[in-house]
Amino acid sequence: MTQAPWPTRLTRLFGTAYPILGGGLMWLSDARYVGALTRAGCMGFITPRSFTGTSALSEELQRCSEHTQGRPFGVNLTLSARPEANAGVRPALDLALAHGVRHFETAGYAPDALIQAIHASGGVVIHKASSLRHALAAQAAGADAVALVGMEEGGHPGANELPTMLMGALALARGQFHVPLVLGGGIGHGSQLVAAMALGADGVLIGSRFLLSEEISTHPAYKDHLARCDEHSTMRLLHTLGNTWRVLRNDTARDVDAIERAGAADYAAFGGLLDSRVARDGCYRDGDWRRGMLSLGPSIGFGTRIQPLAEIVDELIEQARSALSHLDASTASP
Ligand SMILES: Cc1cc2nc3c(=O)[nH]c(=O)nc-3n(C[C@H](O)[C@H](O)[C@H](O)COP(=O)(O)O)c2cc1C
Repeated sequence: MTQAPWPTRLTRLFGTAYPILGGGLMWLSDARYVGALTRAGCMGFITPRSFTGTSALSEELQRCSEHTQGRPFGVNLTLSARPEANAGVRPALDLALAHGVRHFETAGYAPDALIQAIHASGGVVIHKASSLRHALAAQAAGADAVALVGMEEGGHPGANELPTMLMGALALARGQFHVPLVLGGGIGHGSQLVAAMALGADGVLIGSRFLLSEEISTHPAYKDHLARCDEHSTMRLLHTLGNTWRVLRNDTARDVDAIERAGAADYAAFGGLLDSRVARDGCYRDGDWRRGMLSLGPSIGFGTRIQPLAEIVDELIEQARSALSHLDASTASP
């Protein structure tokens, strides 16, 4: 592993070598992937909702402790707007705490009580928000750090229309954040890490770019397709229903787009198209990437082949170094 170019408040908070977080990935953030992130000097987060039942999650957390070789790893707790969908969140927190997990990424609606519960157990929490307003609210609620994600984000970037760099620059220029601020959405190259740091951020959060790592457990046919994707390969859908979802441009995404454009007023209009188990079984397990809502952002365009995660991270750091050298050279006096 190459040396970290700089320590930041984020690396101190999460005890990582690099100021890079791998955000939670539904169905995909398992022990193997999170363990690889941790061993590569970053922080990753297991997604409890990907596992059915307490014992499956418990086994995965145990497995992750083995994969991380004793290093700390994290758990993602995503809160839905529908309270009934959050029944599993507190039990997942309790189970994670019982397994010694102390690092959490929260995302979604009204995280205040969750942040308090994490703190009461001695944990550290970064809350992921898709607007400045929600990021400031999370800081006020006591989050130890905030991840601000722009509309480029793969998955659910919220109703926000603003890109990551603009939001980050606004947030930092206004000086309203006293906790570490991390930028996410569309990050897939080391030069963007330098750019984020130049704005005053403490690190970056990555999802889509890491999908091309060997340790992500998806069917090889899907990864082969991802390696051929470019920056135009994703679509932002369901904005009109207030539940924006950025996904791979495939047959399902085009069908959803057509139904949405025809004026769909509720989820029933989409039938089974939005069922995320189609992604899990049809694509991730069986390799049919043409069907299913497959969370993905345009930073997939930076990946052209399947690589070990540690190699991708090393490349990001080398790219960051090269961007810094370029800056040094271009600002040196003649
Ligand atoms: C396949 C996939 C699944 C995701 N699942 C979740 C999730 O369950 N919970 C969550 O908070 N974020 C989820 N995200 C968002 C990521 O954690 C991260 O914020 C995002 O990928 C960063 O943007 P990027 O994809 O442009 O790098 C997902 C993203 C992807 C690509």
